[in-house]
Amino acid sequence: MTSLRLKDIGDTRRLGICISKVLEPGDIILFHGDLGAGKTTLTRYTAGGLGIEEREVTSPTFNIIHEYLDGKIPLVHVDLYRLADSADILDTGIEEYLTGEFIIMVEWAEHLLEPLSDEYLELDISIQNDTRTAVLRPVGSIWRKKVETIKVCFEREAER
Ligand SMILES: Nc1ncnc2c1ncn2[C@@H]1O[C@H](COP(=O)(O)OP(=O)(O)OP(=O)(O)O)[C@@H](O)[C@H]1O
Ligand SMILES: [Mg+2]
Repeated sequence: MTSLRLKDIGDTRRLGICISKVLEPGDIILFHGDLGAGKTTLTRYTAGGLGIEEREVTSPTFNIIHEYLDGKIPLVHVDLYRLADSADILDTGIEEYLTGEFIIMVEWAEHLLEPLSDEYLELDISIQNDTRTAVLRPVGSIWRKKVETIKVCFEREAER
């Protein structure tokens, strides 16, 4: 488990860029965390690192799934906030993206019945007294190494 302090939006941007550097097709990031903690913001900067137009990345509202196909790897951004009933997940269509081709980033992943895969990054952002902390918990062997790389990247970028 790796804990990173996000003292401002610049840190969130740095983290997004560092995450984008380790991402490969099929990778899954499951977000947990407080309302307004910065999950969509972090997704936007991660998308930017993949070459996706950042301003296009907004909260999925009407459609809970947004596809971004213009980056170097296709990205799917999902927001399960409005799904009060976990059973509704079966109807979201997320499963269709589990082909190994897409990066999948899911906000409010606590609403999932199951974590989609045995290999994923659990990313928890919390806010306390206006300070944000991102906790990265790798699940499965692929993510252990990636989280180490993200941490080194984030700390190096923060020193600049
Ligand atoms: N590190 C940060 N420092 C300061 N403000 C931030 C930071 N990260 C995000 N924000 C701001 O917090 C607000 C909420 O961000 P965002 O919409 O990304 O949160 P969220 O976790 O996706 O929210 P929701 O739970 O509603 O989906 C935005 O105004 C954003 O600019
Ligand atoms: Mg959001």
